[in-house]
Amino acid sequence: MKMGNTKDNYGLIAIAIHWLVAFGFLGAYGSVYYRHWFSEGGFSMTELNSNMIALYLHLSFGITIAVFVALRILWKLINKTPNDVPGGSKFEHLAAHAMHWSLYAVMIILPITGYMGTKLDTNFFFLFDIPKFNDTPLYPLVVEKWLQTDWEHFEPIVDAIHKNTGAYVCWFLIILHAGAAIYHHVARKDIVLKRMAPWLR
Ligand code: HEM
Ligand code: HEM
Repeated sequence: MKMGNTKDNYGLIAIAIHWLVAFGFLGAYGSVYYRHWFSEGGFSMTELNSNMIALYLHLSFGITIAVFVALRILWKLINKTPNDVPGGSKFEHLAAHAMHWSLYAVMIILPITGYMGTKLDTNFFFLFDIPKFNDTPLYPLVVEKWLQTDWEHFEPIVDAIHKNTGAYVCWFLIILHAGAAIYHHVARKDIVLKRMAPWLR
């Protein structure tokens, strides 16, 4: 299999990053819902209870996703995107493209708003600390200089964008996207899923 995409197929790098990001989403969602539904102990800056472990895992998965998404976008810019699989209607191709752009949008918006609204440093997979946004030199530049506001007004807005995009918009997109891929594989029996999941060939 080729490293880069060809006009008919996704290459190894695009496929690897697609599934790494998908597993990253599984980790980010799994940890935040574990925190909401099953964890014990409250928010604490001193005690590493299961609530805090789940929260740090969420932040760590989110930041990992951001790194892979940056690589993915770079790769997409320097590499060709395979042509649409023949057979679908014009509308179906348009819908698939709109879905991909929407997924790129949430892949960018979620980590950025998550990072900007977080009140604590990220203990990255319990290895090292990544400083929170409002301790970085970007904070005064973006929030105070460009947006001319302060943390009390800024935080609830980015938080609301993060939570609503994560809890509703992104789920809606992923379910439609994965559902369409499975529909192509099971009902249409075409190569749409196989070219992103070559082990099914
Ligand atoms: C693509 C990556 C991410 C996804 C899919 C995601 C998704 C979510 C979801 C679904 C929630 C809970 C919303 C609710 O209240 O129902 C949440 C909360 C939160 N996220 Fe993220 N997030 C991501 C990245 C990040 C990043 C990078 C950070 C910070 C470094 C972050 C920080 C937070 C915080 C502090 C909360 C509130 C904690 C909580 O509700 O338990 N997120 N996120
Ligand atoms: C079980 C889960 C998933 C399945 C079965 C799946 C399947 C696929 C397939 C078959 C394609 C190729 C579509 C085509 O050739 O037109 C694709 C592309 C894509 N997927 Fe997924 N996917 C899944 C999860 C995700 C997740 C979680 C994201 C991100 C949030 C995502 C983002 C994308 C994007 C942006 C593309 C377009 C790639 C490009 O051409 O630039 N996928 N996916």
